Amino acid sequence: MPSIEQILEDREICICAGSGGVGKTTTSAAIGLGMASRGLKVCVLTIDPAKRLADSLGLEELGNEATRVDPGLLSEHQINGDGELWAMMLDAKETFDALVARHAEDAEARDRVLDNRIYQQISNALAGSQEYMAMEKLFEIHSEGRFDLLVLDTPPSRNVLDFLDAPKRLTQFIEGRSLQMFIRPTGFAARVAGRGTGVVLSVLKKIVGFDLFADLSEFFNAFSGMIDGFRDRAHRVSSLLGDEKTCFVVVCGPQGEPVDEAVYFHSKLMENEMNFAGVVVNRVRYRFGTKVPKLRELTDRIDSELDDSDLAERIARNLIEYDALAVRDAKNIARLTDSLEDEPIIRVPYLDTDVHDIDGLAEINRYLFGTEEERSRLATG
Ligand SMILES: Nc1ncnc2c1ncn2[C@@H]1O[C@H](COP(=O)(O)OP(=O)(O)O)[C@@H](O)[C@H]1O
Ligand SMILES: [Mg+2]
Repeated sequence: MPSIEQILEDREICICAGSGGVGKTTTSAAIGLGMASRGLKVCVLTIDPAKRLADSLGLEELGNEATRVDPGLLSEHQINGDGELWAMMLDAKETFDALVARHAEDAEARDRVLDNRIYQQISNALAGSQEYMAMEKLFEIHSEGRFDLLVLDTPPSRNVLDFLDAPKRLTQFIEGRSLQMFIRPTGFAARVAGRGTGVVLSVLKKIVGFDLFADLSEFFNAFSGMIDGFRDRAHRVSSLLGDEKTCFVVVCGPQGEPVDEAVYFHSKLMENEMNFAGVVVNRVRYRFGTKVPKLRELTDRIDSELDDSDLAERIARNLIEYDALAVRDAKNIARLTDSLEDEPIIRVPYLDTDVHDIDGLAEINRYLFGTEEERSRLATG
């Protein structure tokens, strides 16, 4: 089984996909650290790092720009030669604003959109805008060519399709009837405004607190000048996703449902002709031995150390439960291996502590970057 390093050879973009809570942010950051320590200039684009992890990477004051992780923090981890670790916290709204600024004809057109209340609502709520903006930022940084590798920690989508479809959805929205209806001079807004439905409008104004139609038509008119730029950009973002320099790593947990999801993600990625690089199964529990421990025996053994039979029994029950979970994890992973045939599957154990700093990430990397042999020794040792 290859390590993450082999999987990522010659790639410029690694997209970590998977549902929320499985360790996607942790895995993205660990991959970033590992590749930086192998001499690459890496930038991790993250979404929602737990506060302690963000703090320890120096991410706390980050806006939407890449910031270098203090090399002093990394020195103990043998960063090789030119290796650099950078990180940024994605902000969908800021990225959308920057996109508007880029495509606006002039400052006035830009401000007309940015200051518009409809835009402010839409930029937050547009279906998939978080997913799209993550890729938009990825595209922007990739075209600057400053980094050897970009690792994208994706938003917790229910579905990897939300993510793959995001550029298409944005284009559809722009090209779609709802938007066109407002932009055309004979469009809905113009008709409503022209027909003197004054009563309805003034009631609406009272309800929503501002002149909805005026804002709507102003927004869509200002936006219409940007449509070609947006559409073109969305197509380019889309083709970057399928590029051979880009690959997807699916992160999942070892429970039944996450494993099913990983299998589903895999099939969707294949269907969409994306480069599937492998699965990281995170927080795997391992058995302590090969036999199911017996409650009485185990309690006695623990009791002889603790001299507290009540506590000993509770610990014993806990261990037996853990053993059952480990058995179940192994079954689920076997099923995953069967379903994915020859695809790489890398297991990372459930560590004793939370992963909230560089040392924790380095611990994860003993598994992500270890050879098969090292990993199985670590897992059983
Ligand atoms: N292998 C692991 N062992 C122990 N704790 C882990 C492991 N991987 C992640 N964690 C912890 O689990 C929590 C969720 O991880 P996170 O990466 O934020 O998940 P996600 O980004 O998928 O929502 C964090 O507190 C993290 O420190
Ligand atoms: Mg996360």
